[in-house]
Amino acid sequence: MTQDQRLIHDAAGLNSGTWPVATPEHFITTVERFFTRSHAPVPAFDPATWHLDVAGLVERPRQFTLDELLDGFPRHSLVATLVCAGLRRDEFLTLGPLPGELPWGPEPVSTGTWAGIALEHMLRKVGVTSEARYVEFTGLDAVEREGRTFGFGGSIDLDKAMSGDVLLATELNGAPLPPMHGYPLRAVVPGWIGARSVKWLGQITLRADPSPNYFQSKAYRTQREINPDKPHDVSAGDPLDAVPLNAVIVKPAAGKTLAAGAVTVQGWAMGSASRRLVSVEVSANGGRDWSKARITVPGTEWTWSFWETVLHLEPGPHALAVRATDSAGVTQPAGLGETWNVKGYANNAWHRVAILAE
Ligand code: MTE
Repeated sequence: MTQDQRLIHDAAGLNSGTWPVATPEHFITTVERFFTRSHAPVPAFDPATWHLDVAGLVERPRQFTLDELLDGFPRHSLVATLVCAGLRRDEFLTLGPLPGELPWGPEPVSTGTWAGIALEHMLRKVGVTSEARYVEFTGLDAVEREGRTFGFGGSIDLDKAMSGDVLLATELNGAPLPPMHGYPLRAVVPGWIGARSVKWLGQITLRADPSPNYFQSKAYRTQREINPDKPHDVSAGDPLDAVPLNAVIVKPAAGKTLAAGAVTVQGWAMGSASRRLVSVEVSANGGRDWSKARITVPGTEWTWSFWETVLHLEPGPHALAVRATDSAGVTQPAGLGETWNVKGYANNAWHRVAILAE
């Protein structure tokens, strides 16, 4: 895959992405390069009759038209990196097959400038009851699972929902949301796995318990033991919310042959929610020795940061590796065996890239 090619995982192009580029002009991902991850086709609806239903444990359930949302609340914008939980799943395939799961590499991660309204403001308007603990988002798409057809959905806890940083977004990078990215309205839950940023929003429901939607209760959960009776069932696993601390080498790509001597290594890294990224280290010998990389474009707690280092490589094979450390002093697990789980989510083992210097 070259830098400008789009890697497409399905015939309809619902699941695709481009190779990230860690240079300053690529800090915000253009729509042309932004990854797409959809479990069903883009839904058709009439913008004239579209509305958002707000129901469940609220004092004043109601429907909002798009104008009511946009005119009724202050405009809010946020730069946030969307990370799919399937990022770097392909590395797990070296340990064995993951049937039915898309073999994502480093491409399902992108950063956008999102604009819309703060979820918190809308929730204050409808009044959240004292029993409410979770906010459930449901999309208008039609996903088929277990013989049923339903809208993709999931939930976030009320503290996150009321944090002021969760958006009901109508714009990406200064233009209306493209259909593929959720037009007319999507949730943007910064720092949480991409699956919680529900597109084509139709319903928001306040609940005492997490959403029973398949994508909250049965998928997007890390389960480390296979259930022999139901090998694809991860409902006993832990639900995913914050994306884990991660660091990825985007240049050079694995398998490259380069001139020996000074070799520039570039990539991105991101902390996990309130535990911010503090440092990035790179190794040229598979993790025996490490040196600090320079942060070239610092991000925020809700975005990636870019880093770079120059290694001096002798002729021969080299096992590059990268690891990040967060503000709690936590670093990444070294091996894939430590992060492996039944559906191959949230891989944040050291990213390793084998290259040859000549
Ligand atoms: N929302 C709906 N309604 N349907 C979906 O299939 N996919 C989720 C999330 N929101 C999805 C959805 C997943 S898994 C991810 S990673 C992000 O959307 C991808 O957002 P993007 O396609 O705008 O990059």
